[in-house]
Amino acid sequence: MAWIKHVRSAIKLILVVLAVLLSLFLVHQCFLPILAFVFPSLGSTFFDLGVYGLYPTQQYISFDLLGPQARRVRWDDRCDNGYLLMTPNGPSVERPGPMMLDAKGELVWMSDDFGATANLKVQRYKGEDYLTLWSGEKAATSGKGVYFMIDSTYQVVRMVSAMGKDLFGDLHEFKITESGTALLSIYNTTTADLRGMGRGRGANGWIVDNLFQEIDLETGELLFQWSAAANFNPMETYMTNPFGGYWESIPFDFYHLNSIDKDSQGNYLISSRHFHHVTCISPAGEILWILGGRDNQFEDLSEGRATDFRWQHDARWVSEEEGILTLFDNQKAGPLHSDAAASRAMFIKLDIPNRTAELVQSMESLQGILASSQGSVQVLPDSEHTFVGWGSAAAYSEYDQAGEMLCETHLGASWFYWFERFKSYRTTKTFTWRGNPKSPPQAKIEDASLFVSWNGATEVAYWALEASRDEASSEIAVGAQTEDLRSQRWENIDIIPKAGFEGAFDLPSLPSSERPFTHYRVAALDKEHAILRYSDPIGYDEDSTESSTLMILFKLFLVVGILAGVPLMFKFYRSGQSFRSWSNTQKPVWADWTPPSSYLRRAHRSVPSEWIKMKWTGARRPR
Ligand SMILES: *[C@@H]1O[C@H](CO)[C@@H](O)[C@H](O)[C@H]1NC(C)=O
Ligand SMILES: *[C@@H]1O[C@H](CO)[C@@H](O)[C@H](O)[C@H]1NC(C)=O
Repeated sequence: MAWIKHVRSAIKLILVVLAVLLSLFLVHQCFLPILAFVFPSLGSTFFDLGVYGLYPTQQYISFDLLGPQARRVRWDDRCDNGYLLMTPNGPSVERPGPMMLDAKGELVWMSDDFGATANLKVQRYKGEDYLTLWSGEKAATSGKGVYFMIDSTYQVVRMVSAMGKDLFGDLHEFKITESGTALLSIYNTTTADLRGMGRGRGANGWIVDNLFQEIDLETGELLFQWSAAANFNPMETYMTNPFGGYWESIPFDFYHLNSIDKDSQGNYLISSRHFHHVTCISPAGEILWILGGRDNQFEDLSEGRATDFRWQHDARWVSEEEGILTLFDNQKAGPLHSDAAASRAMFIKLDIPNRTAELVQSMESLQGILASSQGSVQVLPDSEHTFVGWGSAAAYSEYDQAGEMLCETHLGASWFYWFERFKSYRTTKTFTWRGNPKSPPQAKIEDASLFVSWNGATEVAYWALEASRDEASSEIAVGAQTEDLRSQRWENIDIIPKAGFEGAFDLPSLPSSERPFTHYRVAALDKEHAILRYSDPIGYDEDSTESSTLMILFKLFLVVGILAGVPLMFKFYRSGQSFRSWSNTQKPVWADWTPPSSYLRRAHRSVPSEWIKMKWTGARRPR
C-alpha cells in the first residue's frame, strides 16, 4: 500500500502550498494595506509592489468609467498646475480612451467613445485650442485611422485623414503647425527587394514604408509627401524580426518613423526608431543632415552620449537659435533589444554648420524605468520644466530647468512595468485647456448621499445642492435648464468646494412634521460663485433609502454569517469523533451542507477589497 502513502504526501504538499499561497494572499490583501494605513510613508512602496493592484482604479457613483488612483511618489508644489493628457490602454485598462487628469492625478475628463486611441494633445488652430487624437485600428506597432479635433465642449468638429488612395493616418504623429497645416505619419505596406537581408527573403519581400504628409487644414490640399523607402535602404535597419518581410501580413517595419516636427525654415525633423536617427529634410525633400545611427554626421562632444540614443521617440526642436532639440531615448525595443540600463529624456545641442553634437542634459526616472516602447518629452511653456511620459510604463515625471526631478507619479505598480499593463503612447501637459462640456453635470443618489460630477468641466470650483418640495417638478423633462424651472421653488441646502472628480453631499433628514423634499439638483459654480450649469433635477423617495439600508444590513449579516460559519464548519469536520457521532445517529439536513465555492470566493474577494476601496476613495467625500 505504498501508493497510498505517496498520495497522502502529495496531498499534504498541495495543502502546504495552498496554505502558503493563501497566507501570502492575506498578507498582500489585508496585512500590507493595514500597515500602509498605519504608516502612510510605506504607501508608495506598497503601491509599486502591486498591493493595490497593477493598475489601481477608482469608481464613481455618478460616472461609469474608472479613474486612476494616481500615486505621487515624489511631489513638489512647483508642479501643481496644468492638465495631463494621455491615452491609457493595455491589458489592465478595461475601457481605453483619451484621459485628462489634473496635476495631482485626479480625473478631469475621460471618454470611451473613440475605440483605440493614441497621441492625445491640446493643439492650437486659428487661435482656438483643440484636443487632437488618433483613433482607428491598431496593428502591432502602428495604426490605420484618422485624427479628430475636439472643441472645448467635447464635440468632434473635424476629422483629418491621410491624402491618397488606401493611405491611412498612423497613430504616431499628428502635429498642427503655426501656419495652419498638419503633419501626419502613414505606414504603407508595400513590396521591396529584400534579398540582401538573407534568410531566404526574396526580391518581392514585404516592408512597411513610412510616409509623412503635410496637409493644408483649410483646403485639404496635400503640400508635401516624403517616403522612407525612397531614401533609405531597408537592409540598414537595426531592427531584427525573424518573421518579417516574407508575407504581406507580416511586413518588415524597417524604419518606424515616430515623430515629425517643422522648423522656421520649413525643414522637417523626423525620428526613426529603427534607424536610431533623427533626420532633417528640406522642403525640396533632400536630406540635410543625420544625427545618430549608422549614418551619423555629427562629431559627439560628449564622449558618445549625445549620439548613442536607440529606439527613440518624439524628437522636437526646443530652441532653433541655440540648436537644442529634445528626444525620448528608449534604449530598448522588445525582448530582442533589451541590453540597456534605463530610458532617458535627452537635450542635445547641435552646431549644424560644424556638425557637432553635445549632450546638454539627460533625465531618468526615479527607479530607472526602461520603457520598451513609446514615450514623450515636452518642455513646458513659462516654467521651462521638462515633462516626461514613460510610454509603456505607467508613469510620468517633471524636472526643473537644471534637470532635477520635482515630481513623479505612478499610475500602476512599478515592479510590474515590464508587463506593460497600462501604457500611454505620449503624456503631455497643457496649461491652456478650458473644458465646458455640452452635457450637464451628472448627479446620482445612493444611500442617502448625492454624488455629482461633470466630465470634462475645468472651471468648477464649488458644487451647490438645491432641493424642492414641489410635486409638479416630476413633470419637468430631462434636460430642463434654468428657464423652465422658474416656476419651481428651490431651496439652498449645502455648498461644498470641488475636490477631485466627484463631489458628495449627505442628504438632509427632515423631522417627520416637515414636508419632505421630492427633488434635488446641483449647481456647478465657478471661482466667483457664478452658476455655470445645473444638473437635471432628480426625484427622490426616502423610502428607497430605507430599503437599501436594509439591503446593506442584510448583506453584512450574510457576509458575517459566512465568515463565522466557515471556521465552524472546518472545526466540525476536523473533529472526526463528533462527525462520526453525528453520522451514526440521526443526521440533521444542514450537516451535509458545504458553502458553494462561489460564495467562498466572493466572500474572500469582496471583504478586503471593499475595505481597501473605502480607504482609497475616502477622498471622494470632500468634507
Ligand atoms: C503604398 O503601397 C502601395 C502598394 O501596397 C503602392 O502601390 C503605393 O504606391 C504606395 N503609396 C505611396 C504613396 O507610396
Ligand atoms: C564653427 O565653425 C565656425 C566657422 O564656420 C567657427 O568660427 C567656430 O568657431 C566653430 N565653432 C566651434 C564650436 O568649433
